[in-house]
Amino acid sequence: MNKSLRKAVIAGNWKMNKNRAEAKALIAELVPLVSEAGCDVICCVPFTDLETARKAADGTNIKIGAQNCHWAENGAFTAEISAGMLKEMGVPYVIIGHSERRQYFGEADETVNKRVRAALDAGLTVILCVGELLSQREQNITGEICAMQTKIALQGVSKDALKNIIIAYEPVWAIGTGKTATSEQAGEANGFIRGVVEDLYGKDAANAITIQYGGSMNAKNAEELLDQEHVDGGLIGGASLKAPDFAAIVKAASRP
Ligand code: PGA
Repeated sequence: MNKSLRKAVIAGNWKMNKNRAEAKALIAELVPLVSEAGCDVICCVPFTDLETARKAADGTNIKIGAQNCHWAENGAFTAEISAGMLKEMGVPYVIIGHSERRQYFGEADETVNKRVRAALDAGLTVILCVGELLSQREQNITGEICAMQTKIALQGVSKDALKNIIIAYEPVWAIGTGKTATSEQAGEANGFIRGVVEDLYGKDAANAITIQYGGSMNAKNAEELLDQEHVDGGLIGGASLKAPDFAAIVKAASRP
């Protein structure tokens, strides 16, 4: 395994924050702060901000993503957005299987798999979220949960299509709580998930896949987390809403 072969990716998950004017202002503030980034920089914004964010980021190194998509190409699915609709508006990334979707909106491993496959088919790059609840960590089944979520999400995904997947390990107990996993816990879980990918797709694919950590990552703890062999980037919630904080994490990931 060789970390230097993998591209670091820092993605902001704005969740349900920022109206269009605020989105435009945040991207504008971010542009000069991350223009020299040595990693990929993505902002995953609410659906209503996609067009504004895409225009604000046009011609810069910031890429725009959505936070979910439906698995059908179109049809009677009130309030849903298809992967093709995102692709058509020039959005290259989409988060799928975020724990807030799983916790509050009935997202299941099977529907995560359907969304992942539809997004890949539409030509999007997927940020696939997996991670355990606190009770599951306390029962020592973090590995089993992450393996199950990863395997079901990737069912039917070819080795070639895997190149368009980033995995984000996000322990649910660390999201928005200010409780970060220790760098050792993050490194261990990310390494475990890489092992699951290796079992499914072989060593080369496992070595190449970017695996992020997410959960209260911030300007202060980013370097230590990113120094872990298996932590190739971050999915950032709260700290992605302030340009200087997000830029500091991008800087941490840009160190050689
Ligand atoms: P947080 O969120 O950084 O606010 O903990 C991370 C996420 O939910 O992706």
